[in-house]
Amino acid sequence: MWRNRKAIRGGTASAVPPQPEKREGLQPLRLLAVAALLASAVSLWSQEDAAWKRARERMVEETIAHPEDGRPPVRDARVLAALRAVPRHEFVPSFLRHLAYGDNPLLIGHGQTISQPYIVAKMTELAALKATDRVLEVGTGSGYQAAVLAALVKEVCTIEIVAPLAEEARERLKRLGYANVEVRVGDGYAGWPEKAPFDAIIVTAGATHIPPPLVEQLKPGGRMVIPVGEGPYDQELKVLRRGKTPKDIKVESVMPVRFVPLTGGHEKPEP
Ligand SMILES: C[S@@+](CC[C@H](N)C(=O)[O-])C[C@H]1O[C@@H](n2cnc3c(N)ncnc32)[C@H](O)[C@@H]1O
Repeated sequence: MWRNRKAIRGGTASAVPPQPEKREGLQPLRLLAVAALLASAVSLWSQEDAAWKRARERMVEETIAHPEDGRPPVRDARVLAALRAVPRHEFVPSFLRHLAYGDNPLLIGHGQTISQPYIVAKMTELAALKATDRVLEVGTGSGYQAAVLAALVKEVCTIEIVAPLAEEARERLKRLGYANVEVRVGDGYAGWPEKAPFDAIIVTAGATHIPPPLVEQLKPGGRMVIPVGEGPYDQELKVLRRGKTPKDIKVESVMPVRFVPLTGGHEKPEP
């Protein structure tokens, strides 16, 4: 009897698949390997992140806060902090990422460009923004200027006439967590009447004249920053300050600039 039971147990034992003890012995090794892979991926990612951060810091110091070519520096500490924080490399095509922190405009597709960081900073400074402001941008492009604005004010409304650019910018801004920006497809010449009035308006395409609907949509005391000129080689960056009525405006020329044209086919109004 005893012998039989032993024989049965022996028979059963030799029929079972590989011993569970052996499989369990491999599990911790596998877990360790996965953890090591994850740790090295995280470390690579944070090294890359730190490198982008250093590149941004250099861009701000050398080309915006202390430009060496005689351009007026940007001094507003909040604007400089926003430029240090917004990851410009996320707003350019991947094959141009290595140029993201140079002081140049870059192509973003559809014949359009992301503006030069110095100009983004200067236009933002000229808009004299407060944390409680609501701002309109005309010419979303990549969404970079909108992200810089979003870091400084309560709400940003931005209009782009090229639908695929607007959609890409909307997705990108969402992915990067800029929750206070609304992107709309349309002709920014007409502004965004449903969202008006605005504390400030920034136009990032060259207009032949200051669009009257935009002046109407500025609050009393509001500021508009806009490149104006007959062609790309004849543009001046202007700052308009509105008084109590749309007729009560003061316009100051700041510096020569070169922007892609404001399209949309609007006519220059009769003087
Ligand atoms: C220099 S890019 C703007 C760069 C953008 N602010 C950025 O941060 O990437 C000018 C943009 O204005 C857009 N644009 C031109 N005319 C427009 C109009 N009438 N209404 C809205 N957007 C316009 C162009 O399609 C282009 O994307």
